[in-house]
Amino acid sequence: MNIYLVGFMGTGKSSVGRQLAKQKKWNFVDLDELIELKEQRRIVDIFAKEGEVYFRKLEKKMLKQVSIQDKFVVACGGGIVLDPENIKQMKKTGILICLRATCQEILKRVSSSTHRPILNVAKPRERIELLLKMRAPYYMQADKTIDTSRLSIKQVAAKITKLLPGKK
Ligand code: S3P
Repeated sequence: MNIYLVGFMGTGKSSVGRQLAKQKKWNFVDLDELIELKEQRRIVDIFAKEGEVYFRKLEKKMLKQVSIQDKFVVACGGGIVLDPENIKQMKKTGILICLRATCQEILKRVSSSTHRPILNVAKPRERIELLLKMRAPYYMQADKTIDTSRLSIKQVAAKITKLLPGKK
């Protein structure tokens, strides 16, 4: 089985995923990084040139490829849950952990980055609030959810370890 980390941008999926994989001695993969590697260009450029629909197709294809692996911690892009087939695929091949954080915390964490096309807008706070509301029913489909707002990367990784099947 694999561990899929889902959740909104800036909730810590990549940093926590790396830490968790190190702890468990599993492999780690960041789906966004994999897409950039395969495409040889940044996600912002893919969005700008090809649009979101094209990106979502790539994301789905990459998820399928990764999901045939075993013992992988997979940090997923924030929008992966929007496609029900992706959720199905992840549930079939592992456990879905959703990381969440408050809008304020997300804003703080993503404010210095320009590589997130979805948030390259004039009013990022409003955009985050809206997307969090719209995406809530999708993120709710995860097996477990952890609020990362006040936790360190190591604390979140430790919490996930405790939540995993077979752990009390
Ligand atoms: C997206 C989140 C990004 C990336 C793309 C779209 C989204 O990943 O996949 O920019 O729709 O929420 P992160 O959540 O890793 O930033």
